Amino acid sequence: MVEISTSILSIKEGEEASNFLELETAKTDYFHIDVMDGKFVEKNTYQKMIQNVSYLKRISNLPLDIHLMVEDVKEAIDDFLAVEPNIITFHLEACKSKEEVWEMIRYIKENHCRVGISVKPNTKIEEVYEFLPFVHLCLIMTVEPGKGGQTFLTDMLQKIETLKEYIEQHELELDIEVDGGINLKTAPAVKEAGANILVAGTAIVMAKNFKVIIDELKA
Ligand code: DX5
Ligand code: ZN
Repeated sequence: MVEISTSILSIKEGEEASNFLELETAKTDYFHIDVMDGKFVEKNTYQKMIQNVSYLKRISNLPLDIHLMVEDVKEAIDDFLAVEPNIITFHLEACKSKEEVWEMIRYIKENHCRVGISVKPNTKIEEVYEFLPFVHLCLIMTVEPGKGGQTFLTDMLQKIETLKEYIEQHELELDIEVDGGINLKTAPAVKEAGANILVAGTAIVMAKNFKVIIDELKA
């Protein structure tokens, strides 16, 4: 059974409160928080996501799945640790050296938070292998990070399979999360390839009934 992490990025301005409550009753497993700084990616959602997580913290106990698409990873970790998220995931490509990757992993864990590492479509999955025994989750981007509503990149399926094989061969324990263009059409192949957490934004937020679509994505 896969878990669903609903990206709140595409929720319409002013409809956050009603959408969050409906998502909670629809039993999303996580709220996926897309933090963008306008530098690592073009869009800047930083302040909006700070507001959203503080609000979510007050009205819901559901776990927060923070996806940092930022250049200054350490600053963003500090800002989002404040709401005690379930997990903070940062991009390998945002780190200038391996030492910095190790430093971010250690820093997140020292602050009693689970840690994930994410790779963009063009980054080889082999580049994260050495970090995998020390993280809780690997987030494979199936679109170029930066906005919602993009089309799923099917050649990422091979990357998910390769990661799944590597995790099994090395008897590692970590979640494979997949993010970008996930919907009822693309979800089956992603689950088949080995993902156990699916991020979906547009597919859920644009649906009439959140519970129906979340249940179908999980099935
Ligand atoms: C893109 C974000 C994704 C995106 C998913 O940079 O990381 O989480 O919001 O949205 P959909 O499901 O619409 O592709
Ligand atoms: Zn995301």
